[in-house]
Amino acid sequence: MQQYNFTYNDIHNTICKAAKVIREQDYAPDYLLAIGGGGLIPARIMRTFINRPILTVALSRYSDEIGTAPASTPIKLQWLETDINLAGKKILVVDEVDDERTTLEYTLQHLIETHPDAEFSAFVVHNKKKAKKGKLPEGMKHFFAGEEIEDYWINYAWDAENIDAFA
Ligand code: G4P
Ligand code: MG
Repeated sequence: MQQYNFTYNDIHNTICKAAKVIREQDYAPDYLLAIGGGGLIPARIMRTFINRPILTVALSRYSDEIGTAPASTPIKLQWLETDINLAGKKILVVDEVDDERTTLEYTLQHLIETHPDAEFSAFVVHNKKKAKKGKLPEGMKHFFAGEEIEDYWINYAWDAENIDAFA
């Protein structure tokens, strides 16, 4: 099976280029919002180029029970709780990969429902070119992808148990 290995440098460079594209489109978010776990490191790298505060939500398709199949809708581990007034604010939601689009649809849909007066856009480092199960909500403003890639399994640097052997 073909796979991609994306190193920290690959990911950093992809996000650097994407930030440039985002700026060129005159989009300037007020906040970054990481979808944990996978979106946490990408959001922090994005902050190097688009220096806005990072909010987080945490979702998972997998429960704690080892070996169980992914849930059809993601499990909300933690949701957006903030003292900040998000009314009228532009929020760039960040995740590592758009695979089946389930997580992205669920997250964006719920964010738009719970914060109807904020403006949401999304950025993923990698978008897999494939038929998607989920849809991007109509209320979402922009969708940015760092790289459009084939539908192969991705090994991310942060999953490496031996980072020195990862290239
Ligand atoms: P999507 O909506 O973002 O497209 O993701 P989807 O729900 O289809 O994917 C289910 C889980 O599988 C997600 O993890 C996603 O990050 C992960 N995944 C999908 N394709 C790949 C891949 O090629 N490589 C790796 N390493 N992971 C992949 P999750 O449940 O959100 O967990 P977490 O890692 O964010 O905590
Ligand atoms: Mg995830």
